[in-house]
Amino acid sequence: MKAIVHEKYGSPDVLQLNDVEKPTPKDDEVLIKVYAASVNKYDWHFLTADIFLIRLMGGGLLKPKNTRLGADVAGRVEAVGKNVKQFQPGDEVFGDIGHGGFAEYACAPESRLALKPSNLSFEEAAAVPMAALTALQGLRDTGQIQPGQKVLINGAAGGVGTFAVQIAKWFGAEVTAVCSTRNLDQARSLGADHIIDYTKENFTQNGQQYDLIFAANGYHSLSAYKRALTPKGIYVMAGGSTAQIFQAMLMGSRMSETGGKKMGGVSAKIDQKDLAILKELLEAGKVVPVIDKCYTLNEAAEALRYLGEGHARGKVVITMEGSEDKQHNNYVGD
Ligand SMILES: NC(=O)c1ccc[n+]([C@@H]2O[C@H](COP(=O)([O-])OP(=O)(O)OC[C@H]3O[C@@H](n4cnc5c(N)ncnc54)[C@H](OP(=O)(O)O)[C@@H]3O)[C@@H](O)[C@H]2O)c1
Repeated sequence: MKAIVHEKYGSPDVLQLNDVEKPTPKDDEVLIKVYAASVNKYDWHFLTADIFLIRLMGGGLLKPKNTRLGADVAGRVEAVGKNVKQFQPGDEVFGDIGHGGFAEYACAPESRLALKPSNLSFEEAAAVPMAALTALQGLRDTGQIQPGQKVLINGAAGGVGTFAVQIAKWFGAEVTAVCSTRNLDQARSLGADHIIDYTKENFTQNGQQYDLIFAANGYHSLSAYKRALTPKGIYVMAGGSTAQIFQAMLMGSRMSETGGKKMGGVSAKIDQKDLAILKELLEAGKVVPVIDKCYTLNEAAEALRYLGEGHARGKVVITMEGSEDKQHNNYVGD
């Protein structure tokens, strides 16, 4: 089968479309014929090792231990291991399989998958898992979101941010989306109540305060974020610039106040219960995946290059040749 492989760390130029052996599912695994996969910063980090910790935390010190990329997938179950209970051949599934999704076939433990939302194309379903789980878990678990709260999403136009705006609205929050000028209409169409154009206004300096700030992108210092919180407000760092990520990791707990402002972060976990919640939201139309661009498998390097530029509007998707379903309704790309 065809798969995207990287034998060394580097730019998307090191990616190759190779013939590799079709995988065989272990006892607890499902073999998926992949129809679509989506690209995440997670893939970018494992490709480039731009965050050095990737090398120290099992990625491989000098070269990648796992040469395959692609966490988010949607496809059809082709075979199941003997201990698999939830799926059978023919089922349409989506999930976050960690690595190996940029390929015609992939194996994954059943615990990383759920049945695909019935109203979504494979491309739309592949756009969901990692970004939407980050938004859901960050807002609900770390952020303790409550109806009526004032919630600000920084980086509202990207993969995580487009889900965060919609999920915060579903929780009943009054949502402020922060994005650049060209994405104001998109944020409005996703339901944001207020929109701040970060090229014109710095929300940490306008005197407004929020019960919850979810930071998906960009950079502000932790003290600036803290200033923009209400007295018991919560800051949740999901991503953004390297400085933003490391400040939250190293200083977040020290800057939290007992009974007062909390400075935390989210590290998304694959969870079938949460995938089921997302499936319900998607099927009810409460949340809609936003797809910027679609690439074919042999254009995977281009897809990663585009994501790496940092201005994708919603999600970037890769479709496999032979995909029988190339339709999606929310295509915002050129
Ligand atoms: N914690 C976790 O478990 C977890 C899971 C998934 C992702 N992440 C992290 O979350 C972050 C966001 O991921 P993503 O998939 O949303 O990335 P993405 O899709 O690549 O984000 C691109 C978006 O960022 C916006 N952006 C760029 N600079 C900005 C700025 N200064 N202020 C506000 N928005 C800005 C861009 O909008 P404009 O064009 O309008 O600037 C663009 O729409 C990444 O750092 C990723 O590593 C973390």
